[in-house]
Amino acid sequence: MTGEIIVAPSILAADFARLGEEIAGIDAAGADWIHCDVMDEHFVPNISFGADVIKAIRPVTAKTLDVHLMIAPADPYLEAFAKAGADIITVHAEAGAHLDRSLQAIRALGKQAGVSLCPATPEGAIEYVLDRIDLVLVMTVNPGFGGQSFLQSQLEKIRRIRAMIGGRPIRLEVDGGVTRDNAAAVAAAGADTLVAGSAVFRGKSSADYAANIAAIRVAAEAGRVPKLQDNSAQSMRTGEAARVR
Ligand code: DX5
Ligand code: ZN
Repeated sequence: MTGEIIVAPSILAADFARLGEEIAGIDAAGADWIHCDVMDEHFVPNISFGADVIKAIRPVTAKTLDVHLMIAPADPYLEAFAKAGADIITVHAEAGAHLDRSLQAIRALGKQAGVSLCPATPEGAIEYVLDRIDLVLVMTVNPGFGGQSFLQSQLEKIRRIRAMIGGRPIRLEVDGGVTRDNAAAVAAAGADTLVAGSAVFRGKSSADYAANIAAIRVAAEAGRVPKLQDNSAQSMRTGEAARVR
């Protein structure tokens, strides 16, 4: 069973010249979390922003700052992102030799720990760290740029990770090419947290952002894995055995 759907707009698609206003805009528009994509032009072929920008935006919103580190190595910078005000710090399984150590370090800093998998990385990479994490981030594009097309191949990985998570209190987040058109499919596969950049920052006003966030949320809620009580109600109606994932 999954938690409530969380929509996390990625500020990579914001107007950086007005970053504070843009964050206030998505906050008012109903964003649950603010997704912050950190890129180093080493782990990924692009540079975005670092801990100083996280520090600058921290006073703008009380929402969870969901910091996605696409950097290698990550360990030397974890403390800086924690001090800057990140709430969740996600590292890539591919970014260092000692994932278990990185995840311990994040929790030791008092932050929630996430691990992200690139599209070619199998779900087995997280099997032995499941008890050290609060979030799994499945990349549904190759990381580095916003505005890319969603990779359908990742739906099966999402399903498998949902099964691996079992009853643990771990969020399953998808990131890359998420739109109102595929939100139902990712939620049906088991995702409960949806990152969206270009699909949220389409239009110019907070009202446009609100409509975009709402459309993604409504589609995801419609597609999501049914709750136990929904299954029970249906099985009572149909007489079929409830299927609980
Ligand atoms: C890609 C980033 C994503 C990206 C999402 O490397 O991790 O968060 O900004 O942007 P869209 O939704 O435009 O694919
Ligand atoms: Zn991201």
